[in-house]
Amino acid sequence: MKATSLITMLASLASVMAESTFTPIKPPSQPLAVRSPYLSTWQAAGSGGGNDGYLTGQWTTFWNDRILGWQGLIRVDGTAYNWMGAMGDSPTAATQTSYEYTATRSIYTMTVDEAVELTITFLSPITPDDWKRQSLVFSYLNVSIVSIDGKPHDVQLYADISAEWISGDDSSIAEWEYGKTVDDVVYHQIYRQTQEAWSEISDQTEFGYWYWASTSQNGHSYQNGEDVVVRGQFIDNGVLANTQDTHYRAINDDWPVFAHAFDLGAVTDTPVSRLWSIGLCQDEPIQFTEVSGVIPQTSYYLNYFDNQLEALSFFQNDYATALELSTALDDQLQADSVNANGQSYATLTTLGLRQAFGALQFTGTIDSPLIWLKEISSDGNMNTVDVIFPAHPAYIYTNATILKYLLEPLFINQQSGLYPNSYAMHDVGSHYPNATGYPDGNDEAMPLEESGNMLAMALIYYAVSKNVTFLESYYDLLAQWTEYLIEDSLVPANQASTDDFEGALANQTNLAIKGIVGIKAQSIIANLTGRSADAQNYSDIAESYVPQWINFANDTTANPPHFELNYNNVSTWSILYNTFPDKAMSLGIVPQSVYDEQSKFYATVLHDFGLALDTRHNWSKSDWEIWGAATSNSDTRQAIIDAVAAYAADTSEWLPFGDLYETLTGDYVPGDHFANRPVQGGLLAVLVANMGITV
Ligand SMILES: *[C@@H]1O[C@H](CO)[C@@H](O)[C@H](O)[C@H]1NC(C)=O
Ligand SMILES: *[C@@H]1O[C@H](CO)[C@@H](O)[C@H](O)[C@H]1NC(C)=O
Ligand SMILES: *[C@@H]1O[C@H](CO)[C@@H](O)[C@H](O)[C@H]1NC(C)=O
Ligand SMILES: *[C@@H]1O[C@H](CO)[C@@H](O)[C@H](O)[C@H]1NC(C)=O
Ligand SMILES: *[C@@H]1O[C@H](CO)[C@@H](O)[C@H](O)[C@H]1NC(C)=O
Ligand SMILES: *[C@@H]1O[C@H](CO)[C@@H](O)[C@H](O)[C@H]1NC(C)=O
Ligand SMILES: *[C@@H]1O[C@H](CO)[C@@H](O)[C@H](O)[C@H]1NC(C)=O
Ligand SMILES: *[C@@H]1O[C@H](CO)[C@@H](O)[C@H](O)[C@H]1NC(C)=O
Ligand SMILES: *[C@@H]1O[C@H](CO)[C@@H](O)[C@H](O)[C@H]1NC(C)=O
Ligand SMILES: *[C@@H]1O[C@H](CO)[C@@H](O)[C@H](O)[C@H]1NC(C)=O
Repeated sequence: MKATSLITMLASLASVMAESTFTPIKPPSQPLAVRSPYLSTWQAAGSGGGNDGYLTGQWTTFWNDRILGWQGLIRVDGTAYNWMGAMGDSPTAATQTSYEYTATRSIYTMTVDEAVELTITFLSPITPDDWKRQSLVFSYLNVSIVSIDGKPHDVQLYADISAEWISGDDSSIAEWEYGKTVDDVVYHQIYRQTQEAWSEISDQTEFGYWYWASTSQNGHSYQNGEDVVVRGQFIDNGVLANTQDTHYRAINDDWPVFAHAFDLGAVTDTPVSRLWSIGLCQDEPIQFTEVSGVIPQTSYYLNYFDNQLEALSFFQNDYATALELSTALDDQLQADSVNANGQSYATLTTLGLRQAFGALQFTGTIDSPLIWLKEISSDGNMNTVDVIFPAHPAYIYTNATILKYLLEPLFINQQSGLYPNSYAMHDVGSHYPNATGYPDGNDEAMPLEESGNMLAMALIYYAVSKNVTFLESYYDLLAQWTEYLIEDSLVPANQASTDDFEGALANQTNLAIKGIVGIKAQSIIANLTGRSADAQNYSDIAESYVPQWINFANDTTANPPHFELNYNNVSTWSILYNTFPDKAMSLGIVPQSVYDEQSKFYATVLHDFGLALDTRHNWSKSDWEIWGAATSNSDTRQAIIDAVAAYAADTSEWLPFGDLYETLTGDYVPGDHFANRPVQGGLLAVLVANMGITV
């Protein structure tokens, strides 16, 4: 290659690769359309497998890294540019200048030829108090364009999706329709020809109807068909053919894509924008085993809409309100987080809230809703108690009624006698979306863990809602689980905790205190429901366990002293995160001296990227670290938060923000790429500790 052409090439490369800013950080993966276990589309960013935070040059993916084709193009004065996606023979990429995220939005800014600027907003609304909106499994893409050189430019805008969104198997046969609603919403409806109800392949859903919609207005055109044909049509002509390819076929057979384009005419310094909606409608997304059998559960949004198109149409026309509600939540979360522990804390809570809400699905009637949660990535369990538990600060901070209806399926199943064990069940179904329970009691056994979790969460829901009726209706179950805790919490049997990747261990200090806090919770529940004698008895038992627990677990010889991982095992330790419910509700069962001792100790073993979970490994869990921070004094709290935020910012991980990682390097634990788990809702624990909740 001649030197001159090398220089030209480097110069043009440099203009394309001009650096983007990232605010507040470049997260491991950038959330694009994240509303439910199945609408979960991201742009991998971390250096280990991502694209360094740029929207072009790499396909967007499902949370597990499977490609979901999403292509954006723009023509400016007759020349096409790429602003999203990685189509072959891709036109020149627009120059990304900034990326910013909030809890509900990812916003990219790009320029084309120093002539126009694009502001590309992905809004996945979070509306905790408005379940009509929260239950819609849709997300927005808003692209706004403005001239930045003082001259008008002739602009056409384009975006398509591939059929990869509708199945985890690219050989599945796709079918599709194009249509228009009475209020001018234009849509491609795309679905598996053979609907496999309640099935998954590689975590993607195999039934229901996907919609890729926009609003019909001057200059709109559409087309579906082979990727190179449809994209080539736009690149060459700036307008689509308004035709359908009705040769329904496999997703990977000449890759059908579904496109909308707009001719915006001359764009000046007044911004012009277009809006797309992407989403999934499943009328009966969940199956739930009740006494009468396996009952399909109806989507909650169907309380408000007669059919899918009405829901779609509402969503497409609701952008202004959805943006207003989401922005209000974003601003509140940002302000509360900064006020608590600075920007590094806000960096974490904004990512955490997204994942806590991106795992949910709402069904049922307005009077009797149910909320479902997928564990995600570690396995597909439904409403896993020890996943709801770490996540629950996100729901307590936003709307505690969400926690109630997440727990409800677990209570209903066990109250109905569909679970034989005396302790609390682990989850309500081994694979989402089948909440078929465990009539044989053969769920993953975490007896102390889940019994303690259910009691602590029942009480915190009460503490925020003051709903005694709820406690009364499940009192017998709560009492039954308390009996287990009275038996097992002071000297815990050899069993797994939620951190099951560590294996089982007897006498775990952190499990023991969870159980003791659970007994104390039950004493308050007994009091609230008018059972004075029981209240006194439970309280006496819990109080009597505490000094014994300290005696078994306090490593008095260590300098500084600290609590051991398991009893009488000197020089071991773990994060004592299960004291958090005591702290959050000011129960007063855990002595302040325990908090003081642990706070001082944590500060001595903190690594650059966090506080190890325990002495068995140097890996940790971001959710439990922040729980630990929430139970620590202010200096230690800030130090832990800063370290976890450094992990989020500096990790090479590229899947949606992982909770399990190495605290020395900030990288994945080999072989365990936890991703997109709702447990990151636990990052809001400090906000909950600051709420001043009392029982
Ligand atoms: C939570 O959401 C529900 C359902 O929209 C609503 O009735 C309730 O007022 C909200 N707020 C709280 C604090 O529960
Ligand atoms: C859920 O149950 C149905 C049978 O009712 C089955 O066909 C489907 O494969 C199950 N889904 C998963 C994810 O296991
Ligand atoms: C896109 O977002 C901008 C900025 O919030 C807004 O002004 C505009 O109305 C939105 N466009 C559409 C088509 O909704
Ligand atoms: C309190 O809980 C009961 C039982 O679950 C429920 O029927 C009622 O709607 C709840 N009240 C409020 C205000 O949430
Ligand atoms: C558990 O701790 C108790 C109290 O120190 C002790 O008696 C018992 O031997 C321990 N069990 C095991 C399996 O280590
Ligand atoms: C609950 O506790 C309060 C004070 O802690 C006490 O006054 C009240 O009598 C108790 N109620 C019951 C039913 O035990
Ligand atoms: C206290 O509770 C324990 C465990 O349920 C029970 O064995 C004991 O009889 C109770 N004592 C009183 C006084 O109720
Ligand atoms: C643990 O032991 C140390 C050393 O004896 C003591 O100073 C500390 O108070 C003990 N911790 C608690 C919570 O009692
Ligand atoms: C002490 O903890 C270590 C893990 O840190 C474990 O390997 C060892 O078996 C434990 N010892 C006892 C006596 O429990
Ligand atoms: C954790 O890292 C430290 C270095 O900071 C090392 O000394 C220790 O052995 C590591 N622990 C484990 C369990 O690998």
